[in-house]
Amino acid sequence: MKAAGKQISRVYVTRRIPPEGMRILQESRICEIEQWDSDDPVPRGELLKKVAGIQGLYCLLTENIDEEVLKAAGPSLKVVSTMSVGYDHLSLDALKKRGIRLGYTPDVLTEAVAELTVALLLATSRRLIEAVDEAKNGGWGTWKPLWMCGNGLTQSTVGILGLGRIGVAIAKRLKPFGVKKFLYTDVGPRPEVAATISAEFVSLDVLAQQSDFITVCCALTPETQGICDNRLFSKMKNNAVFINTSRGAVVNQEDLYQALLNGQIGAAGLDVTVPEPLPIDHPLFKLKNCVILPHIASATVETRNAMAALAAKNLLAGLKGEALPKEVPL
Ligand code: DGY
Repeated sequence: MKAAGKQISRVYVTRRIPPEGMRILQESRICEIEQWDSDDPVPRGELLKKVAGIQGLYCLLTENIDEEVLKAAGPSLKVVSTMSVGYDHLSLDALKKRGIRLGYTPDVLTEAVAELTVALLLATSRRLIEAVDEAKNGGWGTWKPLWMCGNGLTQSTVGILGLGRIGVAIAKRLKPFGVKKFLYTDVGPRPEVAATISAEFVSLDVLAQQSDFITVCCALTPETQGICDNRLFSKMKNNAVFINTSRGAVVNQEDLYQALLNGQIGAAGLDVTVPEPLPIDHPLFKLKNCVILPHIASATVETRNAMAALAAKNLLAGLKGEALPKEVPL
């Protein structure tokens, strides 16, 4: 379609998004926007119908953008832009095969995710949720020397599984708490990045054996799927605290449950699970030593607006055939 000499592209937005993102799309005057105007995910059937013939797709991490969706969209689709740093919900092979470009939102959420990870780590290690419950529900008797004791960060060793931007930002925030040593594991050593936080590269086994806290910061890939399993938990210290703010599928949840139940590890704090939402009768919810948040690591108003804006800019650049501000190389 053309308006006043401008090429107008059809765009589908799969959810109500933060205002910054919508403003940028609307003010561009190069797209005709159709949107699933709800805070809940678009039903799959509706998505398949609405993508037919579009040029741009703006999606969230809740949509599985696979062969079926791309086929339903047809050959007009030029760019997919996800309002997330993670892109495990998209089939990269299917996008590549069709020459469709992919935008994502790294960097803008690093600080918010790191901040929440520290909050979750402290809430888990110092048993904050359990303590609040005790105070409210009559469990608070007299002051007792060993009641509600947790683990402190002072003189501790923190292991980072996947040392990227977020892992570094977490380490920088934890350092002032008196952490003695940072260890990390990744597909290989990352000396330049590690130097910024004086972290030592170790194997996954050593990370498990030596860390008092493990924080999972890696992307979900076929290599990292289920990497945190019984093998890992059985090597961890019995009082170690395990934190995951990356993706739920990096963890074998049944193994984690057993490790927490049997005292193989001390406690876990999870911002991500499989599935999401985790059913309220899930056994993990019954454990006092497991703190579960509903995937809120990037949830600050500024961050969500920045993510929405970056995703909008990625989409517009893709429609114009320009370099995407943040593109996933396919
Ligand atoms: C992402 O962007 O991938 C996070 O999980 C949510 O902000």
